Amino acid sequence: MTEHWSRLALIIGALAISAPATATPPTAAMLSNACAACHGTLGASAGAALPTLAGQDKDVIVDSMREFKSGKRPSTIMGRLAKGYTDDDIVAMADFFSKQKPHRPDQTLDATKVTRGKELHDKQCKRCHLENGKEGEDGSAVLAGQWLQYLQIQVDDYLSGKRKMSDKMAEKVKPLSKDDMDALAQFYASVK
Ligand code: HEC
Ligand code: HEC
Repeated sequence: MTEHWSRLALIIGALAISAPATATPPTAAMLSNACAACHGTLGASAGAALPTLAGQDKDVIVDSMREFKSGKRPSTIMGRLAKGYTDDDIVAMADFFSKQKPHRPDQTLDATKVTRGKELHDKQCKRCHLENGKEGEDGSAVLAGQWLQYLQIQVDDYLSGKRKMSDKMAEKVKPLSKDDMDALAQFYASVK
C-alpha cells in the first residue's frame, strides 16, 4: 500500500501544480481521478483486493464512503481517505462511477464452487442482488464480475462481525456455512 500512497501523492501533487489560478470547482471526473491509482481508470480495478467501482450502484458508493468516514465500515485505507471529501464530492463521484461501463475481468475460479454458488444465490440472495448480482436494488451492491479476493475479504468481515450487514441480509446469510459463502463469492466473480 505504501506504493499506492506515493503514487497518490504524485497525482495530487500534479493536480495542485496544474490547477489554474481562477479555479472553478472540480468536476466529478477530476475528483474521481484521485481514485484511479487504486480503483483503476474509470473505476475498472486491475488489483484483486481493490474493488471495481465502475457500474456499482450509486447509493452503495455513497453509503460506503459515509460509513468509511464515520468508521462504521472497517477499512485499511478508505477511512482516512474518505475524510478528505465533502458530501457533495462523494455524491458527484458516486454518480460518475455508477455510470461507467461495468468491468468484469476473466478470473481463475473453481467451476464446482461456481455451480454451487449459483444454486445458493437463487435460494438466498437474488431478491436483493438482482440479475445474478448485476443490479443492486435499494442500495444492494452490484456483485457481478467483482474481484474474488475483494469479495472474500468482505465475506470474512461480515462473518466475523467486523462489517455489519443489514438485518435482512443477515437473515439469509445465517443458515450458510463459510464454504457456502465462498461458493457464492466464486459465483459472483464468474458473472459476465
Ligand atoms: C490507496 C488506494 C485507494 C485509493 C486512492 C482509493 N481507494 Fe477506495 N478502496 C481501497 C481499498 C483497499 C478498499 C477496500 C476497503 C479498505 O480496505 O479500505 C476500497 C474500497 C472502496 C469502496 C467500497 C466499494 C464496495 O464495493 O463496497 C468505495 C466506494 C471506494 N473505495 C471509493 C473510493 C473513491 C471514491 C476514491 C477516490 C476519492 C477511492 N476509493 C480511492 C483503496 C483505495
Ligand atoms: C435484503 C436484501 C439483501 C439480501 C437478501 C442479500 N443482500 Fe447482500 N447486500 C445488501 C445490501 C443493502 C448491501 C450493501 C452493503 C451493506 O449494506 O452491507 C449488500 C452487500 C453485499 C456484499 C458486499 C459487496 C461490496 O461491494 O462490498 C456482499 C459480498 C453480499 N452483499 C453478499 C450477499 C450474499 C452472498 C447474499 C445471500 C446469502 C446476500 N448478499 C443477500 C442486501 C442484501
